[in-house]
Parts: sequence; structure tokens; C-alpha cells
Amino acid sequence: SAASKEGFEYYMLKEIYETPEVVMDTLYGLKNDTNIDKIIDKINSSKRIIVVAAGTSYHAGLYFSLLLQRNGYTTIPVVASEYYNIKTGPDDSVIAISQSGETMDVIMAIRKFKENNSSIISLTNVIESAISRESDFKIYTRAGPEIGVAATKTFTTQIAALTFIWSKIVDKKINFESIGDVIRSSLDKSGEARRIGEELAQKENAYYLGRGISLPLAMEGSLKIKEIAYLHAEAYPAGESKHGPIALISNGFPVVFVNTGEFTEELQSNVQEMKARGALTYGISINSTLNTHKEILLKVSDENLAVFALSPIIQLIAYYAALARGNNPDRPRNLAKTVTVE
Ligand code: G6P
Repeated sequence: SAASKEGFEYYMLKEIYETPEVVMDTLYGLKNDTNIDKIIDKINSSKRIIVVAAGTSYHAGLYFSLLLQRNGYTTIPVVASEYYNIKTGPDDSVIAISQSGETMDVIMAIRKFKENNSSIISLTNVIESAISRESDFKIYTRAGPEIGVAATKTFTTQIAALTFIWSKIVDKKINFESIGDVIRSSLDKSGEARRIGEELAQKENAYYLGRGISLPLAMEGSLKIKEIAYLHAEAYPAGESKHGPIALISNGFPVVFVNTGEFTEELQSNVQEMKARGALTYGISINSTLNTHKEILLKVSDENLAVFALSPIIQLIAYYAALARGNNPDRPRNLAKTVTVE
């Protein structure tokens, strides 16, 4: 049951291991959701798509925005608490992503966008949550309750739901049936994730670098390790890292590269730049090596599914870094599961 750890030391680990099942439940739910076609039509007839969310949900939203931008859609990711920077109109669709469905900043944002007669589509994990009640269209992830404060399985279900919606919008064939196995083979690498997490736990700072679709994953990896291991970590687009961040690199500075497989060569040269300055480089890489000092190499036959292999690994690295530092990963200091204040 959701309220017991079932032999796992912490809820966070148990919930990471539930990911294959809840992702498949989420996809099953969406395939059988009779509202989906209406929602897809709405999005496809919109002038712009505004994606609004906070924290981990924002990273899922950024992933979705990048996918749609690549297909030529005008998609604008907005951090919920910064909603006042955008003026929406009646031809815009807003997609609000929130695990809890109760995050106050997201509620404030959609109320404002509704005043401008934009259509609100919500993706939440809680049936009839505040955010779903205030939306015109509701979609759900089926991750079940998440006890760990830092989002894990719910993030991967959001990614799954958003990949599904994207595939419908742009009419792309994806082998959704294989996602459970992709996640399971990634979980088999937990020993390697543990070793990297334990090494990062010895450091004071780290960079997480990615390109394209791997950037939101790098951002989520750095958020996770900040949240529960209290390690100062910063995510950056790999190419942009030479415009500033590289100034901090000296012997032993850890740099974690995340690679979905789409920009392997470019990332390999970023690895060389970092190595040349003494960085200790780590790779979480799909299908090809990045030539980092230490690497978790994941094989995925369809690179559209790379995110599902990467997501559990960045979470496990943070989890083991938190344990190595003696922290309780389920109850990080200063953080709340649901932030119901502005
Ligand atoms: C809090 C939680 C995060 C979560 C964020 C957004 O900061 O600690 O894990 O990602 O809220 O929550 P939501 O429920 O809107 O996805």
C-alpha cells in the first residue's frame, strides 16, 4: 500500500521503483480517456500554448515545450510564480502541470489567464484537485500517492503523459508499450547511480549539463540533488557553460553530463573542454559513450524514450547522495510537498 515502505528504507526509493508500473497505468488511463481528442483539437487550433508549472512539474513542462517548439508550435514555458510576465488571449491554450493540483502559484496563474479567456487544460495527479476544478479540460497522471517530498515517480508519469499528448498533437508513432521495460533496465543500474551519488556527496558544488531534451533532465537532476542532498548544483545548457560557468572549473570540480543521444558529438567536445580544465566528469548517456571519467551507459532502441531511462537515474543519484550525507531523503529541510502559499 502507499502508506507503507514495503521493505524499502525510504518512501523515495520505493516510489522510484514503482515508476514502471505507474507510468504504464498513466498511459493506459490516457489511451482510454474520451476527452483527449477534444483536448488535442483545442491545442492544435490554438495560437499559442502556454505551459505553466512550478518545481519538478516545471521541468516536465519545459520538456513538453521543447518538443512542441521543434514541431513549429509557439509554446511558452512559464514558471508559475512569474505568470505576470505574460499576457494571454482567447486564442491561447494554457497547460497547467501540477502533481498535487494545489500549488498556489499555479492557481494564481490560471486565474489570471482565465480572465483573458484562454482555455485552461490541467495535468494533475489528484482527481478533482483545486487546479483541475478550475480548468476547462482535465487530464491526469496515475502515479498514486507520493509520500516523499521530492517528486520522483510523479515526474516520470508527467513526462509519459506529455509525451503521449505530444505524439497525438504532432501525429507521431511512439512505442509506448516498451516504456516499462526501458525504466526497469534503468533501475537495474542503481548500483552505478549509487557510486556516482556517493562521490558527489563528497563535493560542495556540481554542474549538470545537457543539450536539447537533456537540458530539462539536467535541470531536474540538479534540483533533486539540491533538494535532498543539500549539494549546491547548477544546471546549464552544455554549450552555454563556456560563457561563465567554466570559470569555476579546477581540479576535481564535478560536472555531470546528461545525454539523450541526440547531441552526442557536441557533448563529447564539451566533456573534453571540461576535462582539459581538470573537471571530474560524469556521464549519464544513452547508446554512446561521452568519454567521461565515470559513466552510466543506457541502451534504448527508440531515442524518443531516452528520457524514461534518464529520469530514474538522476533521481537515484540524488537519493544516494542524500543517504551518504546522512540526510533523510523523504523529509528534506525547509521544503513542503505542496506549497499552498504565494
Ligand atoms: C514543491 C515540492 C516539489 C514540487 C513543487 C510543485 O516545491 O517540494 O517537489 O515539484 O512543489 O508541486 P506540484 O504539486 O505543483 O507539482
